[in-house]
Amino acid sequence: VKRSKIAQTLWDAWCIGSLVGIWPRFIEPSLLLSSTIFVPIKNLKKKISILHFSDLHLNEQTSDRFLKKIIAKSKEKRSDLIIFSGDFLCYSKLDSPKRLIHFLNQFQAPLGCFATLGNHDYLSHVSVNLNGDYDVIQDESSDIIKGIKLLFSNPKLTGQATEKAQAIKENPRLLQALEQTPFKLLNNQTVIIDDHLNLCGLGDLMLGRCLPEMAFQGWQKDLAGVVISHHPDTIEKLSAFPGELILSGHTHGGQVNFPWMWKKFTLMKKIHLKSGLVNEAGKWIHVSRGVGSSFPFRWFSPPQITHIHLERAL
Ligand SMILES: [Fe+2]
Repeated sequence: VKRSKIAQTLWDAWCIGSLVGIWPRFIEPSLLLSSTIFVPIKNLKKKISILHFSDLHLNEQTSDRFLKKIIAKSKEKRSDLIIFSGDFLCYSKLDSPKRLIHFLNQFQAPLGCFATLGNHDYLSHVSVNLNGDYDVIQDESSDIIKGIKLLFSNPKLTGQATEKAQAIKENPRLLQALEQTPFKLLNNQTVIIDDHLNLCGLGDLMLGRCLPEMAFQGWQKDLAGVVISHHPDTIEKLSAFPGELILSGHTHGGQVNFPWMWKKFTLMKKIHLKSGLVNEAGKWIHVSRGVGSSFPFRWFSPPQITHIHLERAL
């Protein structure tokens, strides 16, 4: 009787386990939701539509089918401008530049495609160390082990990048690849879109490369503008700078989006900026859940692209 009870329990555990695991491992990461939002902007000279996506994390496990889905969904509405807010790569690995180039070459928008870098896009990947600093983490363990370690760690974020993190160089292979695509990299730089909108792209916060003093030099004060910055905590550094809307990613919407769990995987200061459109101290910030992830496992946080319509505020 006892044996059959154990077998029954194992069987039940397997049934529940397989059902519970199938959704976040195989179904949710390959979904792609498209949302549309309207953002009122003071001082806007002309309406403009933007396709915002983020966190591709291209790796061997990213299927061609999913890449095609992103392209198809993106084309459902024609946007004036396309913006990618960082993390093209996964743990700084660019195994197939051709694949990235081919994917990015399928985007086109009348006013151009623009991007910034994320913490996975430089020569080494930066994460949070046990002291809570942004640092180079040399951890060769599997993603599952890394996830378990994160779950039981409790670092308090300092928001500081270590010297080692600040010394990491840009990835020349990624920069060369991007040059062969329509995506123009804005690395602490502002461009003017169609004579009526500032567009500023910042370097990544976690490598100490978010340099607004430099980035906003080309900003035209009489025009409204959008700021692209991978990490939503960047907003802390931007209060003295212009810009009506910030476009960010990085959080994957919490990724494993249970109230007691997501904060372990998404270490950030401003936890209310996990996803969606938020107004903070007079600036709008849109945090995308992103399309990919370094670890293909999502719960209550499906991949997302967003069609954003900027409208003149009354
Ligand atoms: Fe990131």
